[in-house]
Amino acid sequence: MASDATDRADLTIDPAARLAGELRLPGDKSISHRALMLALLANGESQIGGAGDGADVRSTAAIVAALGGRIERRPAEAGNVDYTVTATGGAGLRRPSGVLDCGNSGTSLRLFAGIVAGHPIEAILDGDASLRQRPMGRIIEPLAAMGAGIEGARDGRPPLVVAGRRRLQPIDWQTPVPSAQVKSAILLAALAATGTTRVRESVATRDHTERMLRARGVAVRTTPTDDGAAIVELDGPASLGTVDQRVPGDPSAAAFWLVAGALHADADLVVRHVGVNPTRRSAVDFLSRMGAAIDEQPVGDAAAPDLGEPVADLRVRSSDLRAIQLMPGDTAAAIDEIPVLCLAATRARGRSVIRGAGELRHKESDRIAGIVDGLRAMGARIDVDGDDIVIDGPVELRGAAVDSLGDHRLAMTFAIAGLIAQGRTVIRGADSASISYPTFFADLERIRS
Ligand code: S3P
Repeated sequence: MASDATDRADLTIDPAARLAGELRLPGDKSISHRALMLALLANGESQIGGAGDGADVRSTAAIVAALGGRIERRPAEAGNVDYTVTATGGAGLRRPSGVLDCGNSGTSLRLFAGIVAGHPIEAILDGDASLRQRPMGRIIEPLAAMGAGIEGARDGRPPLVVAGRRRLQPIDWQTPVPSAQVKSAILLAALAATGTTRVRESVATRDHTERMLRARGVAVRTTPTDDGAAIVELDGPASLGTVDQRVPGDPSAAAFWLVAGALHADADLVVRHVGVNPTRRSAVDFLSRMGAAIDEQPVGDAAAPDLGEPVADLRVRSSDLRAIQLMPGDTAAAIDEIPVLCLAATRARGRSVIRGAGELRHKESDRIAGIVDGLRAMGARIDVDGDDIVIDGPVELRGAAVDSLGDHRLAMTFAIAGLIAQGRTVIRGADSASISYPTFFADLERIRS
């Protein structure tokens, strides 16, 4: 075997002679979380097909159960899970008997804070050491302004104690940073507010919450503006109907294979059933702009059961890349794919600049520090200038010992780097990939030779 686990935390990756084959991805993480949460808020039985089974989505499923949802899970294709969730609607939410453990998942913590805020229950939301470092003032302030009792520990970090109310006040809120989690926490609380809640975003972020609420019968309006900003409005109070939803493949997971295929000199990969929602597909577009040979074939019925989430098969082949300049709005749109796009830039001709990447410091790790240290150790010419990342290419990467900082997206980025580098790469904490993509290393072994 070309790659092998040397202990629980370290994994060795040797360069691949060839990359070829087909991949089926984990169900989109953002949609999987929301499908479980919205099923808890609906009255009756919801079916969720092909949800991701990473540790983050598992954290959400466990919290849905702790709040009174009945959950059945069945194994599905590609390591995914089909769920049946039975619940009695928002009014049936149960006061949890213990702390709600969000593990590593910021989406779970921030969105459940919004849900609990609009119900007359009290809950403590907590997580692992990484989550306890992440800023929560951005949800504490709007939820408190709506009338919920909400307090964090030191500096507003988790654990959060949330005392919800049966009725909240609507708010008109400009989010301080582009964040779908903040927008979604406010919209979920707005289901219990009397009147119109408005969220103003300087850059429109992923819109799964809005699409999924609409599909469940809630009036949500979005007004995009020419400069890429958006205003989202929800009229409350509102209750949710049940729906059956199939979850598309995760475009953030697809990005690893798109970069692998574009960078490797002998590659032909097909990634099936990828979500290509306009608010999630920018990595595909940026790589294409860099010259990546990506062929996109729309699949399926754009209507139910994917509920308006467009899906495509993507084929990628070896490519000769040129540098790219991303403006802050571009960076926000591809926030989860920036680490692997930095890897792509190391092999692209010219100077790439990724502007306005400061939010990456507040993800599962300080992703700017992690990516700069790891790629530099592999020979990349990568620098940070304030909130901008500057990469000069192309360079030949060489295998090195790199540290994922326990961050799934860094672990997978370094694994792809190891496939195209000269010599052996050892990744510390590679098992963190299972946060979002438990079958990542098995898939990697299957498509490499
Ligand atoms: C997510 C939103 C993004 C993203 C995260 C998932 C979501 O976070 O980085 O992986 O599902 O809403 P922010 O909203 O903090 O930017």
